[in-house]
Amino acid sequence: MIEQTFVMVKPDAVQRGLVGEIIQRIERKGFKLAAMKMMRIERYLAEQHYAEHSGKPFFRELIDFICSGPVVAMVWEGEEAIASIRKLVGSTNPNDATPGTIRGDLAIVTAFNLIHGSDSLRAAEREIGLFFDHNEICQYARGMDSWLN
Ligand code: RTP
Ligand code: MG
Repeated sequence: MIEQTFVMVKPDAVQRGLVGEIIQRIERKGFKLAAMKMMRIERYLAEQHYAEHSGKPFFRELIDFICSGPVVAMVWEGEEAIASIRKLVGSTNPNDATPGTIRGDLAIVTAFNLIHGSDSLRAAEREIGLFFDHNEICQYARGMDSWLN
């Protein structure tokens, strides 16, 4: 099934100059970029985005970190995009992440794990809606898309 998923390049990746590397990995896999913006997240938006973790010991640290510098918010589209991009991202703790994944290759600690990817269809729809207006999401066809639909 063709899905859209929400991806965020976190402040650590922006500061380490890994924006291009991360986009390249998702792009080269074959997914289609549907929306992208660089932004500084307001606390309220960060708390909504990570609402499922509200009350956990790391919540405050997580929100502080996500708001500490600009992020790059994106929507990516393609076959099984949600699960497939989670695989490209790798496990939450980069020490457990398989080499070849973004976190497995480029990060060491959970607090600085570089990238967020939606973990379910429900989360993807909710997160895309939090970060993007309808008119910010581009619809366009690529040559091979007609073979997939
Ligand atoms: P994300 O939501 O950012 O894509 O990461 P995830 O699904 O792999 O992991 P999740 O459990 O949703 O946790 C969200 C983010 O919170 C930070 N975290 N810190 N100190 C800790 O034990 C801890 N656990 C999670 C990480 O930045 C994680 O990506
Ligand atoms: Mg998560």
